[in-house]
Amino acid sequence: MKIIAVCGSRREKGNTATIINKTLEPFIEDGHETEIIYPGKMNISGCNGCEGCAKTGRCVVKDDMQEIYPKILEADAFIAGSPTYFYNMSSDMKKFIDRCYCLCSFDKENRAVWISRLPQTGPRFAGLISICEQNSADDMGFTPAAMQAAYESLGYRIVFNQKVLHAFEAGKVLQFKDQMDAAYSNGKKLLKTLELNRQRTLFPSGSLN
Ligand SMILES: Cc1cc2nc3c(=O)[nH]c(=O)nc-3n(C[C@H](O)[C@H](O)[C@H](O)COP(=O)(O)O)c2cc1C
Repeated sequence: MKIIAVCGSRREKGNTATIINKTLEPFIEDGHETEIIYPGKMNISGCNGCEGCAKTGRCVVKDDMQEIYPKILEADAFIAGSPTYFYNMSSDMKKFIDRCYCLCSFDKENRAVWISRLPQTGPRFAGLISICEQNSADDMGFTPAAMQAAYESLGYRIVFNQKVLHAFEAGKVLQFKDQMDAAYSNGKKLLKTLELNRQRTLFPSGSLN
């Protein structure tokens, strides 16, 4: 299986990357392919709002996001982690999400009617991670809820939404055994969810009559 993770921090040894790496460990131990994408280190602009994707189904902005779209489509699961920057996700995470607008399709007459264009042969699964330095969930602001709403609207079922407080210096989370353990357990839970999904027995048509 292929798992991709998007890290909203540019610090590869930072807290977000550390928790993402721990979450990916069960997949690596099981021989699955993993990749961490850092939108802040790539040439990715924000959304132009040009609605070009409404006509073509594809984002017209030709930058590094174009190499990420196929990875989103092909991935068996998705992980997104962001530090809190001023009570919300980082701008690197936000620009990534905004550029996923082309993965949504709206009804021409009624924009309250819309769907995710990601292939939905079954549920698509994702896990979320939010990190901040202060001591209460209020200081994390909108980060976990804003990411959850965005990724749900892209068609993901959110399997976990981990919140880490008190982490300022890069790698500080390594000292938080409970959070590191939780990250590993979340990775296992996501892996088991994917395995269960592969084995699931669908109701044969008419079986509920
Ligand atoms: C621009 C900026 C804004 C921040 N805003 C907040 C905030 O609103 N609340 C908070 O608790 N921490 C805030 N922080 C602290 C980071 O969330 C914290 O240091 C986090 O561990 C950084 O993650 P990283 O190590 O993955 O880069 C801010 C940091 C920066 C650089």
